[in-house]
Amino acid sequence: MAFGFRMELTTNAGLGLVMRPYLPEEVKDIWGSMSQYDVCKYIRLDYVQSVTQVEAWLEGVSNDPHSRLWSICVRDGEKETPIGTTNYNIADPTMRPEVAESGIVIYNPKYWGQGIASATHRARTWYAFQIDGLLAVESGVIHGNIGSLKSLEAVGYMRTGTRYHFTKVDGLWRDHDNLLLVNPARWDEFWSSSKNQPEDAEKARVRTYSTLEWAEKNISLV
Ligand SMILES: CC(C)(COP(=O)(O)OP(=O)(O)OC[C@H]1O[C@@H](n2cnc3c(N)ncnc32)[C@H](O)[C@@H]1OP(=O)(O)O)[C@@H](O)C(=O)NCCC(=O)NCCS
Repeated sequence: MAFGFRMELTTNAGLGLVMRPYLPEEVKDIWGSMSQYDVCKYIRLDYVQSVTQVEAWLEGVSNDPHSRLWSICVRDGEKETPIGTTNYNIADPTMRPEVAESGIVIYNPKYWGQGIASATHRARTWYAFQIDGLLAVESGVIHGNIGSLKSLEAVGYMRTGTRYHFTKVDGLWRDHDNLLLVNPARWDEFWSSSKNQPEDAEKARVRTYSTLEWAEKNISLV
């Protein structure tokens, strides 16, 4: 898997985006941005990584056959400015080879609240199900990270439970919501019985279908 193929899309507000592999010279910019507390506090990173650690992480991703990662860039003509990262990876390829875990960091806070997570989640979801044909994607959100929870639920993730006393943010213990996104085309294969589905599973399925429909119309896989 490693890096995902290039996708071009536009947010609802008309901002042009590209999701593509990183260029080697962009590593220092990521490192600079990831030294901001507000960017890291909800991703359980409670220290500033060195450039070498960021380089090693990127090297690891590019060689990991179970990982898909994109640099999220804002497009302005020919210019593409990296502002974040989104990914999924198969965390347990032996026991759960078709269930991925997803994550996102928009490391330039200037771009928060502009619908970028919402748009790139749709692209990532489409890629996971239409290109990689995965069964499901899991994620998680630390309580207090409202934008993250909203953007994930909007594309079809549903809450399946809570991990209590998960981590500290701003000096206080926080719980964590577990989230699940099931490939709507493989629904019956995933749920062995409709009885074990969370109450709002069908609603989440409808939201996922609408995500995939949007993506079919609005994403170019280049
Ligand atoms: C969390 C994060 C990914 C959200 O990305 P974003 O591009 O700002 O999100 P969007 O603009 O698509 O917003 C999604 C929704 O949440 C709302 N929202 C965004 N930030 C919010 C905030 N701080 N408080 C309340 N609502 C917020 C938006 O208004 C939007 O709602 P709408 O769909 O009803 O209009 C981004 O802030 C980020 O990268 N933070 C740092 C790292 C992080 O927390 N990663 C996620 C870990 S789970």
